[in-house]
Amino acid sequence: MAKKKLQRFAQLASFNNVFQPHFSESFNKDHHLKGTWHKVVFYNDNPITLELGCGKGEYTTGLARHFTDRNFIGVDIKGARMWRGAKDATDNHLGNVAFLRTNIESISSFFSENEVDEIWLTFPDPQAEQRRTKKRLSSSVFLNKYRKILKDNGFVHLKTDSTLLHEYTFKVIKHNQLEIIECTADLYSGGETSAVLSIRTHYENIFLNEGKKITYLKFRLPKNKEITEPEND
Ligand SMILES: C[S@@+](CC[C@H](N)C(=O)[O-])C[C@H]1O[C@@H](n2cnc3c(N)ncnc32)[C@H](O)[C@@H]1O
Repeated sequence: MAKKKLQRFAQLASFNNVFQPHFSESFNKDHHLKGTWHKVVFYNDNPITLELGCGKGEYTTGLARHFTDRNFIGVDIKGARMWRGAKDATDNHLGNVAFLRTNIESISSFFSENEVDEIWLTFPDPQAEQRRTKKRLSSSVFLNKYRKILKDNGFVHLKTDSTLLHEYTFKVIKHNQLEIIECTADLYSGGETSAVLSIRTHYENIFLNEGKKITYLKFRLPKNKEITEPEND
């Protein structure tokens, strides 16, 4: 492994704001952090927002700077990427930021019922092949996992360059009669974009440089409604 990457892994392990549980700590069981994030990690009762598939964590740290009275947790499986956001938060004393290195599939092992207020999905892999539909982070499989940890009618945000993923998610929303708060197929076409929606991630910058349009969806997820998958086209 490259020396720089090894150094980053070593530093990641030393950051107080990073949690890297071993697979065995959460496989088919609850992790000890579940239900304790307010008390043990943040030392406050402020609402918690997750950025799932956070990469370098630009939304996690960007939102934390905007909303100092809220807590933000970036979740990703890749430590070398997460290092960037964790270092930013450490160097700049962002006490309302944490990072969790785990597979999103096991998210309900780490958060208890109603522990999370909002979820951001920032440029997730579109999983374009039809047979991989259920791997999409906005599929019914994942939305049902999020329902378990989100407060009732909590917001889910999806920012993506993928028309396929945007349209697929719109279809899931409509099929399940979820409430859409905002939906745009070209975020930057109308001039002014809000400061929050203007936070740029690593992948967003790549896609913008390629001339791609950025789409955005914000919707509510009700707790007591099983989400089902729409029919294939
Ligand atoms: C295309 S990148 C986007 C990263 C970042 N949000 C951005 O916009 O720059 C997708 C990220 O999701 C992470 N990811 C994908 N599936 C995951 C899973 N099941 N569990 C944890 N992380 C996952 C990948 O490791 C990767 O960092």
